Amino acid sequence: MATYRSPRFQFLYAFQLLMLIHQTKVLCYQYKVGDLDAWGIPTSANPNVYANWAKYQSLKIGDSLLFLYPPSQDSVIQVTMQSYNNCNLTDPILYMNNGNSLFNITSEGAFYFTSGVEGHCEKKQKLHITVGNVSAYSPAYGPGASSLPDTSPSYPTVFGSIPSASSSSPLLKLSPSTFLFFALFIGTI
Ligand SMILES: *[C@@H]1O[C@H](CO)[C@@H](O)[C@H](O)[C@H]1NC(C)=O
Ligand SMILES: *[C@@H]1O[C@H](CO)[C@@H](O)[C@H](O)[C@H]1NC(C)=O
Ligand SMILES: *[C@@H]1O[C@H](CO)[C@@H](O)[C@H](O)[C@H]1NC(C)=O
Repeated sequence: MATYRSPRFQFLYAFQLLMLIHQTKVLCYQYKVGDLDAWGIPTSANPNVYANWAKYQSLKIGDSLLFLYPPSQDSVIQVTMQSYNNCNLTDPILYMNNGNSLFNITSEGAFYFTSGVEGHCEKKQKLHITVGNVSAYSPAYGPGASSLPDTSPSYPTVFGSIPSASSSSPLLKLSPSTFLFFALFIGTI
């Protein structure tokens, strides 16, 4: 396609890449917990949704976790490992109940969350994440647990590679909304 080689197109393409990278930087570090629109008791169809989700995330300092839920029905608490294991809701480390709760990751380590509503923890509404050297915080993810990418995972980029960006920023991650944005943008040409 000759038009794709025209200087005009190349300019637009470069511009789009810049926009994409910009967008990605703004959006990519905020993770919607479980990829769900609602933090809540897992459905019977997907009882381990939070554990499975956490397994494939590569979180780092600067990222944040977004918990969305109806504030009248739920809440988020950060708890210790012991409280997480025992579903002990007493004296949480952090309590959030505004329905749109952002947990900002500011240090490495293991973080444990559950619902502040009685009974929800027992129904597996709980999330355990690790940030940084995974094997240092969670033996279960150590050597032998092969599925977890513990170095730099490579994310697929639909529009070819973005060499400088992806190598300098291993966590460059394209969100669906970025794709949508890109698709719309392409459509306007
Ligand atoms: C729950 O946690 C609180 C605060 O850490 C502690 O005092 C209490 O003993 C715990 N309860 C149980 C049943 O473990
Ligand atoms: C995380 O950061 C956002 C934006 O800076 C802020 O609104 C929010 O309160 C922070 N969350 C916590 C738990 O401090
Ligand atoms: C990660 O932590 C483990 C256990 O503490 C340690 O043996 C290993 O050297 C660490 N790896 C890196 C890359 O820091």
